[in-house]
Amino acid sequence: METNQLVLQELSLSDQPISGEQLAQKLSISRTAIWKAIKTLKQKGYQIESKPHVGYKYKDNGILNEFVIRRYLPANTNRILDFEMHDKISSTNTRAKEISIETDENLPLVIISDQQTAGYGRYGRAFTSPNTGIYMSLLLKNSSTLLNPGLLTTATATAVSRAIEKKLHTTPSIKWVNDILIDKKKIVGILTEGIADIESRYIKQIVIGIGINYSTDVSDMPSEIQQRAGSLHSFAKTYSVSRNEFIAAVLQEFFLLYPHYETGAFLDEYRAHSAVLNKKVTITQGHNQFSGYVEQINRQGEIVLDDGTTLSSGEVTKIRLE
Ligand code: BTN
Repeated sequence: METNQLVLQELSLSDQPISGEQLAQKLSISRTAIWKAIKTLKQKGYQIESKPHVGYKYKDNGILNEFVIRRYLPANTNRILDFEMHDKISSTNTRAKEISIETDENLPLVIISDQQTAGYGRYGRAFTSPNTGIYMSLLLKNSSTLLNPGLLTTATATAVSRAIEKKLHTTPSIKWVNDILIDKKKIVGILTEGIADIESRYIKQIVIGIGINYSTDVSDMPSEIQQRAGSLHSFAKTYSVSRNEFIAAVLQEFFLLYPHYETGAFLDEYRAHSAVLNKKVTITQGHNQFSGYVEQINRQGEIVLDDGTTLSSGEVTKIRLE
């Protein structure tokens, strides 16, 4: 790890202020090197208070920081995860797919970026990603022979909803399959992709991309999205949760559900948040459209309409109340 990162790690992990001398001793580098590292970190936007005769104290002002995320995680989740942090990247899902080809080691890996220049969602649509949101991809080894990506997406949506309720004290709804809404505005999008081993045709790894409009100013978004999108923080009942803390909450909830997601044990919770269950909807699947009353979300996370049509993928394009 380079010096700046080592200093950031020490500061982020300490509850007490640490003096330049203590840092220099701990990291076996000069006090000048410590001073320089702190100056660079401050320039990058990290909040480090200097208290004369006491030392340096780190404050979580929301700048993404792996060490702070780790502090918020329970030990058992922290232990199993590797992180890759970026200031700017084309897309965390694209990056995850690049890595997946290289190695199976160090998984689960969490890739997080402050901004994306080519973030994308379902059907190849652009996902606007300014530096006020949360963009992360989980790269996981697939151990299931009967992989059901829809169920994994519904499990992820449930985990993100739990994090929203626990941390921000507001209740979202889930628009099947993968959109999380508050007040009918889209706050979170989830995109699950599988990576196949060509020879065996087996899905060997999975990428779960989560994009959250965290404190994004909706008026900065493209005009066609403004109508439909919202910013999570504007609906929060508490204002003191940093992006780092929220990311940790999502990871904690996800890794509670993930080991058992195939049992569908979380589906009742998913159904309770559903924006489509017991509603009349139109679902678009490629060139086909299906309209009907949503009678069930079944054990596979599929939609069952009143005429018996069962859909495992598609986009809900209309929701009527009757
Ligand atoms: C959708 O709404 O259709 C899904 C949006 C998924 C966006 C996330 S942001 C992190 C990850 N990287 C991407 O390029 N996409 C996903």
